[in-house]
Amino acid sequence: MKPISRGCPLLQVRRLSIGVSRGRRYLLGVDALGFQVQSGEIVGILGESGCGKTLTALSLLGLLPLGVHITEGSILFDQRELRSLSEREFCALRGQEISMVFQEPMSSLNPLLTIGRQIAEPLYLHGWKNKGFIRREVLDLMTRLGLPEPEKLACAYPHQLSGGMRQRVLLALAMVCKPKLLIADEATTALDLSTQSQILQLLRGINQDLGTSILVISHDLGVIRRLCDRVLVMYAGKLVEAGAAAAVFTDPRHEYTRGLMYSVPQQEQKGKPLLSIPGRVPSIEEEKPGCPFAPRCPRVLGSCMVQFPEAVRLQGDHEVCCIREAGHE
Ligand SMILES: Nc1ncnc2c1ncn2[C@@H]1O[C@H](COP(=O)(O)OP(=O)(O)OP(=O)(O)O)[C@@H](O)[C@H]1O
Ligand SMILES: [Mg+2]
Repeated sequence: MKPISRGCPLLQVRRLSIGVSRGRRYLLGVDALGFQVQSGEIVGILGESGCGKTLTALSLLGLLPLGVHITEGSILFDQRELRSLSEREFCALRGQEISMVFQEPMSSLNPLLTIGRQIAEPLYLHGWKNKGFIRREVLDLMTRLGLPEPEKLACAYPHQLSGGMRQRVLLALAMVCKPKLLIADEATTALDLSTQSQILQLLRGINQDLGTSILVISHDLGVIRRLCDRVLVMYAGKLVEAGAAAAVFTDPRHEYTRGLMYSVPQQEQKGKPLLSIPGRVPSIEEEKPGCPFAPRCPRVLGSCMVQFPEAVRLQGDHEVCCIREAGHE
């Protein structure tokens, strides 16, 4: 059973901007992003490559790369402001309260350590000492995540495993301390379709059985649609549409979301040609006023080039940032 969210959201991100330093100034990789994740909720971040999804995720873990900083905004997690945490406090939080499955499944495991040792590592790091307890936790989790013959596999090394198995091991590593929030950044991108399906099922199982909130990051609309309660659509560092996945996918209101939907095969569109969004995501160097999607938008207006519109609230928590929806045409 999913826990019913109570009052305060688990994660509340407000007007978060992340800048990449260029000499004396910052270029914004993420621009005034705001969203919430309730306890027990699965929220997806959808957007093409370079839209700022990974930077957003890394900022939640205090792991932004060198030369990349939060320039504005606030990140409240479990009622604590993450921006004011020291590195030591972040170390205590990482893995234990928020954990992440990274984008590169092949390079995220240590080739020199056994699988069992790697899954146990976060428990050791967070101060657990009882070896019997650690062993039981690791084997239980391996069984829960469908890793066959866990006792034998615990003694194997990463190169002896298939891609899908390695991704399960990474998931085990991320879940072993039972965090409140799991971030899965393109966790299924490198996998074949049937393995991808199995990992998505595992994520759903983790959410349902343990009540873990999950932030799923993907450029794959199908993954977000299958898994998420709510979706955030990002374009060039900005949130352009957000809401319940059912609402956003049945009634997309931003031309970017529509474009993403028309560019994947869908049952309703059977027989019609697939469309692609012409053009590309602007790089962070190309700073221009207005809506960054305007140059690719089929319904662009002159005023789109002037100012990025405030979010307009539609039904429920469905929101969109588009001048046409704001009635300022
Ligand atoms: N370490 C870095 N130094 C400089 N620029 C960076 C760095 N990391 C990211 N960027 C820039 O910030 C922007 C957002 O990058 P990010 O990695 O968050 O995108 P993404 O949405 O995760 O893309 P993908 O789907 O390809 O993973 C991009 O324009 C990228 O070039
Ligand atoms: Mg990324």
